[in-house]
Amino acid sequence: MVEKMEKKLIKLALEARKKSYAPYSNFLVGAALLCKNGEIYTGCNIENAAFTPTNCAERTAIFKAVSEGNTQFDKIAIVGGKKDAQSLDYCTPCGVCRQVMTEFVDVDNFQIILAKNENEYKVYSLNELFPLNFGPKDL
Ligand code: THU
Repeated sequence: MVEKMEKKLIKLALEARKKSYAPYSNFLVGAALLCKNGEIYTGCNIENAAFTPTNCAERTAIFKAVSEGNTQFDKIAIVGGKKDAQSLDYCTPCGVCRQVMTEFVDVDNFQIILAKNENEYKVYSLNELFPLNFGPKDL
């Protein structure tokens, strides 16, 4: 049976989460971004002693894709939670990541998969999580 793309992305996000560098918050996040051409980019959060340079998992994945010439995205899976958590709760993208997504996607069709694990997940459009967004269409 062909594995559902959602499950594949969640699995990859969980793998990416293992690479999280989060010594200050101990909140580990992983993301897996599916591009329209089928390529997948993963990312983790990367913290910094000066705090503000911290980059979220979602933006790490998006910036990796854009820097490789991929700017057309279909969906992203996100998993996150404390390092020592027995199970994960849903982790929603921060406002900065929602704004960065808005730059590149069709807000009505881009899917954000929030997952606890491969079997428990919820799917939202970016517009549902970030209504009245300001993006390229507004300039
Ligand atoms: N973080 C993410 O990477 N993505 C999210 O969706 C929420 C927050 C990171 C930033 C920081 O390293 C840690 O989680 C705690 O805020």
